[in-house]
This record gives sequence, C-alpha cells and structure tokens, in this order.
Amino acid sequence: MQSGPRCQQILRFARLVRPRYYSGQPPPWRPGSAVDQWVERPIRPISLRQLTFFGRTLTEPRLISSANYVRTELPTRLAHRLRDIQQLPYVVVSNPHLSLVYELYYKAFERFRVVPEIRSLEDNDRFCDILREALKEHLVVIPNLAMGVLKCRELVPADEMDRFMNTLLRARISRRVIAEQHLALTETFNSPWHFPDSQERTDMNSDFVGEVFLKCNAKEVVEHCGKVAQELMRKTSQSAQIPAITVQGHLTATFPYILSHLEYIVGELMRNSVQAVMEKYKDSTQPPPPIQVLICETPQHVIMRISDQGGGLPRELLPSLWSFSKGPRTQSRLENLEQVPAMAATMQELKVSERTERKTDQGGYRESSLDTLTSRHPNLRLGMGLPMSRVYAEYWAGSLEMHSLEGYGVDAFLQISKLGNKNEQVTSRAAIDAV
Ligand SMILES: Nc1ncnc2c1ncn2[C@@H]1O[C@H](COP(=O)(O)OP(=O)(O)OP(=O)(O)O)[C@@H](O)[C@H]1O
Ligand SMILES: [Mg+2]
Repeated sequence: MQSGPRCQQILRFARLVRPRYYSGQPPPWRPGSAVDQWVERPIRPISLRQLTFFGRTLTEPRLISSANYVRTELPTRLAHRLRDIQQLPYVVVSNPHLSLVYELYYKAFERFRVVPEIRSLEDNDRFCDILREALKEHLVVIPNLAMGVLKCRELVPADEMDRFMNTLLRARISRRVIAEQHLALTETFNSPWHFPDSQERTDMNSDFVGEVFLKCNAKEVVEHCGKVAQELMRKTSQSAQIPAITVQGHLTATFPYILSHLEYIVGELMRNSVQAVMEKYKDSTQPPPPIQVLICETPQHVIMRISDQGGGLPRELLPSLWSFSKGPRTQSRLENLEQVPAMAATMQELKVSERTERKTDQGGYRESSLDTLTSRHPNLRLGMGLPMSRVYAEYWAGSLEMHSLEGYGVDAFLQISKLGNKNEQVTSRAAIDAV
C-alpha cells in the first residue's frame, strides 16, 4: 500500500466512517508469498486467431498443450489481480463484497498454482473438472464487484475506482475466455464425431472452433438480439408499443468472434433502445418509430450504428454514463444489485437462456457465462449495461460510443475489429499503483 498524502487522507477518513473495518493492518499478504513469485511472470495475451489455431486440427498433443497454457496462465493472471486488490486502501479491500471477491480469487489462485503438468487425457479431464467448478463459483463476482465499488464510492475517487473495475472486469473476461475455450475444445475432442488421428478439422461443417464463431454475421446477431429484446418487453410490459427493428447496409459482413460477447453488447444496446422508445411512446396513439441499424464493413472493421428515437440520454446521466461508481442513481443500482447474486447462482444452473443457446457437436446446448446477466428482468436496471458493453467491446480491440441528440434519440456506434488478429486487451502488470 502506498503512503502518499491522498492515501493518508483516505485512510484518516476511513477510520472515521468505518472504524469497524479498519484495523491498521496491511491486507492479508506478506512479502515473499506465492503471489509475489507469480506476479513476476508476464501474461501471455492471445488473439482470436490463436484461439482458433489450437482447435483447428485438434490432436491430443494440441489439447494437452492448450491445457498447460491455461494451467499456467490462470494463476499468473489471478496473481496480477490479487496484487491489484491488495494495493487498494485497506478500508476498501475490507468491504465485505470486495473481500469476498478477493477470497474467491485467492482460493482459485491457490488451487490452480499447484496443478501438476498435464500429460494425459485423464489429467486433462481432472483439470477440466477444476475449471468448471471455478467458473461456477465465480459467477457471483460481477455483482459483488459492482456492489463493492458502489459502496466504497466515497472512499476512493470515482475515476480511480472505475479504472480498478475496468481492469478487473477485463481480466475476468480474459480468464473466462481461455478457460471456456479449453473446455469447449475438450468437449469437441471427446465428441463422437471427432477422430483424433485425423489431420482435418474436427467437423468441417462446424463454424465454431471452441467458443469462437468463425462466421459471426452482424445482421443475424442484430436481428436475433433485437427479437430477444422485443420478446422480453412483450412478456414483461403492459404496453404494446414495441418498436420494429430494421437493418440496412452491408448485410453479408461476417467475422470471427466470440458470439456470446457480441450478443451481450448488441443485446444491451437493443434493450436500452427498445426501452427508451417504449417509454417515450407509452401514452401515444402513434406507432413507435423503428430502431434503425446500419452495418458498415471496412477492410479492418465492422461498424454497427444503432439509431433510436427514444428521446436521447437524460442530460444528468451524461457525466456518469460509463462509470461503475458514480451517478445520480447509485442507490437504486445498489438495491437492484442486491437481488442479483442469488439469481446468478440459480439461473445458470437451472436453465440456459434462449439467447445464448448454441448447439454443441453432441447436439446438446452449451452454457455461456453471460446468461445470468442477459436474462435479467428489464426493471432490474443495474446501470451496468453500457460500461460492461464497452469493456467487452474494447477487450477484442473494438470500441463503443454513444451520441445523444437531446429530445430526439441516440446513435450507438459499435466498432468490431474483424480480422481476429488483435490480441486481447489485458493489463499485464498489476495496474493500479496510483490508487
Ligand atoms: N438508447 C437510449 N436512449 C435513452 N436513454 C438511454 C439509452 N441507452 C441508455 N440510456 C440511459 O442510460 C442509462 C444507463 O444505461 P445502462 O444500459 O448502462 O444501464 P441501465 O439500462 O440503467 O441498467 P442495465 O443495463 O444494467 O439494466 C439508462 O438507465 C437510460 O436512462
Ligand atoms: Mg441497459
């Protein structure tokens, strides 16, 4: 922990407001710990192209090598994030929500760092069980992080808290990507259609390599997510004023991407647009104006512009639109978030939501870690749709911008890097020395 004047000030304040939590002790780590050793290792970022490379000719040695990559990469990435949390002022890290996240990360770090080298398919099966369990256990991380950050909003400046949150969320996506990709490859390898000796791709008809969908078609994703948003509103709202969705432009644009990431972003934008238009037209006798989507393909990018006439962004929200920790609605966001941890555990187990269902090679359906976030009730507004979507968009070197025309509507611009050759954007070094 650093000891600059601002930090001293925060700690003095912390003692005043939360004497129960402040013990004057450093966070629970000691120099020379395993975290110290692992944090010295550099992170090895991966691109979509590399992710598909492991799976294209899926032989036993490749599967084993993928397993060992994940085995060493997960504890390395966890060590960096543990260090980030350790460097927060004690009063922040001892917030019950953040300390729960810390404990989950620490437990996972301890579990993964002792896994011996994977040499056989049996070793890999055991490793996959550990992976699955950890993924499930960590479903509560996002709501807890979000609540922790909101509850500590008066202890650390909002910009620094947002930087912390962005780093942790990006890192979380990165760990889930490599873990879920390896599980998906193992599933493919074990499927009856896979012939381990063949040099050909596992299934020539499959457009998935693990979690990566090679032919993400922008138009189809927009239409699918639009339909899900409309359906959700049909089920949960009394109003019949549901706007239509039109798609124009380069309708054949396809690119490799992790489908659940794209569906999450487009889904959140669609939900916001549909909700805004319905709100504006709820008492009108006129049919609501459609949401117009334009797709534009360039040599390097696919850009989607989602335009609605829902009245534009409320002016008072503009300064905090991308923030996890500030804004006029922090209290209601907290109250809504309180309801999410329970949802996260049960919905994931009980049902796979319609929108992320995908056929696996065995004819079953594969779950996605985003299900719990995307299938929530529209009134349960968490204020996370936009900031989280931007984290996802930037993760694969894309971008998300909103342009609001006050009183008229919103244009959302989502830019996707379409060649799949950009590395995931993760922060390698423990990132928040400034906090
Ligand atoms: N297209 C839009 N038109 C008008 N207002 C919008 C639009 N998109 C977002 N907003 C405003 O910005 C706020 C923040 O959006 P965001 O998606 O981040 O969170 P939310 O929708 O409130 O909650 P969540 O998405 O977590 O359920 C919304 O509550 C809404 O007031
Ligand atoms: Mg939203």
